[in-house]
Amino acid sequence: MYKGVFITLEGGEGAGKSTQLRLVGEALRERGHDVLITREPGGSPGAEDLRQLLLFGNNPLSLRAEILAHFAARYDHVDRVILPALEAGQIVLCDRFTDSTLAYQGYGRAAGQADILDLIHNLTAMLALRPDRTFLLEVPRAIARQRLAARAGRPDRYEQADEDFHARVAEGFEAMALHEPERVRRVNTAQEEAGQISHRIVEDILALVCQA
Ligand code: TMP
Repeated sequence: MYKGVFITLEGGEGAGKSTQLRLVGEALRERGHDVLITREPGGSPGAEDLRQLLLFGNNPLSLRAEILAHFAARYDHVDRVILPALEAGQIVLCDRFTDSTLAYQGYGRAAGQADILDLIHNLTAMLALRPDRTFLLEVPRAIARQRLAARAGRPDRYEQADEDFHARVAEGFEAMALHEPERVRRVNTAQEEAGQISHRIVEDILALVCQA
């Protein structure tokens, strides 16, 4: 058991996660909360090394190895950064977590193949850390693509994948949200101002902080 609150943000690229992480983090800090903002893959030195390999490595891994590498990065991040922060009572805001592996590898790459979904579910169960709340940020793909086109920097392995892949990823996130409505809040970032959205997210997190 820990004293803190573990929040994850999920969604496809260009859904507005970075903006929301920043706005929500600022708002919680202004109210005096101790907030840690972190990300996956990455978030600890070893996991950041694995991020480079996963997103920009010259030699793509087999699907099962790719899943294990995402989880190796995640276990290091959880053991060295997330759990100590939660034990210290911080609010941890994490950009992506296990749901991304389900969506990108389980649905994007494996199209929902049962043995691959089982592997991901088993690794998730062994991790024994579930977010207290997950916000799934959703936006029509056409808008996400416009946002991505305006970004600088080299696109990573997943951003370069085709449209069918991204449609399957969205389907995976939707399946996860339908399966766990208690934990997952769906947020459409195309319909409201970023400030209004972050306000609602902050209110939801504050309610969880009161229960913790
Ligand atoms: P981002 O943090 O800039 O969104 O980039 C991370 C990329 O890695 C993104 O395309 C999603 C992908 N990813 C996976 O494929 N599986 C995972 O488990 C995680 C955490 C991310």
